[in-house]
Amino acid sequence: MTIVSQEEHVHFKEVLEEFRELTNEEAYVHIFSQRMMKPVPNRNAEYYGCDQRIDMLPFLKTLVDKLPENGQVFDVGAGSGDVVDFALQSAPKNTVINIEEPNSILIQNYLKTLKRYPHLRMGVAYDGIIQNYYRGKIVKQYPAQPQDLILAIHMIYHLTDFMMPQIDPESDIIDAVSFLYGLLAPGGSLFIVYADLLDYANSKAACGLAEVFFREKYPKDYFADHLVSIYKARNQLLGPDGTIETHLKKRFPNTEPKLKSERRKTHFFAESVADIGVLCLATELCSSNRDKFKLAKLQFCLDYVSRYPESIGLEKETGNVPQKGCWRANEPQVIATLTKA
Ligand SMILES: C[S@@+](CC[C@H](N)C(=O)[O-])C[C@H]1O[C@@H](n2cnc3c(N)ncnc32)[C@H](O)[C@@H]1O
Repeated sequence: MTIVSQEEHVHFKEVLEEFRELTNEEAYVHIFSQRMMKPVPNRNAEYYGCDQRIDMLPFLKTLVDKLPENGQVFDVGAGSGDVVDFALQSAPKNTVINIEEPNSILIQNYLKTLKRYPHLRMGVAYDGIIQNYYRGKIVKQYPAQPQDLILAIHMIYHLTDFMMPQIDPESDIIDAVSFLYGLLAPGGSLFIVYADLLDYANSKAACGLAEVFFREKYPKDYFADHLVSIYKARNQLLGPDGTIETHLKKRFPNTEPKLKSERRKTHFFAESVADIGVLCLATELCSSNRDKFKLAKLQFCLDYVSRYPESIGLEKETGNVPQKGCWRANEPQVIATLTKA
């Protein structure tokens, strides 16, 4: 089945032109800030490109409502501060917001967002990758401890480099989560949200195209298999019935880790099929560095989405939502809350 009209062909050309000269870091801003997180005016937590933020809001709001006065929040893989607008702005007076974000454009936007909320205080702002905190690098921007709430929202895609010949995604997740759990105050929470990119009964997530890309373009390499083992490790540790508690209990025997995790049906939206193709790049198909963006990845997503739209559940949204009439694709998310008692 093909759903590509003449008009769509024009959009395909336009997005290829738009991404042609970008670095990965700039491309990420075009995918994430300009499309996925384009705000719907006057609607809290509603963004035109996805329904993941409105879906996670009730879970996150419960945790923000529990914050003490002068509490500490650490937002890792923080992005550009949309979470401040849709959830953290209701934190009590003098809450300190610490951030870690390697994309230099996004971290600057986060700092600008924070300035709009004078009742919140800026803590540390570290512009490197989270691995630097627990992989032997000396990081000076360390958040004050302990933390009452730590956010790791849609960022755990970057914990394992799937291009390396040997990977151990389970250890990478355990190390990152242990580091963050270790920073928590008793009663504090670590809020982790990620897209479930495993295939289910012939249906895949839009960002599951990363696996298809590497399987088709590098059939003799291990990249696609690595991605699948990373997707599986996330669910085994952090999904419903995830086993992360056992690992944390071993490392922190005097604490009682508790995981609550749910898989939720959420989506990406766009006005054109071309923009759905762009959103498919959002996880493992766009690195966080200043190398030139590889246009072949976008070209692949555009071809695949037009040839196999049903594989990512592509259809027009008919519900009474801001994206009514737009294209909608599968992008389920897992919401995991880990508390320390
Ligand atoms: C999908 S965005 C999510 C941003 C933000 N948490 C939100 O939900 O609005 C993923 C973020 O992870 C960041 N990132 C990439 N590699 C990272 C790493 N190794 N450590 C920490 N963050 C990373 C990206 O720059 C990007 O801002």
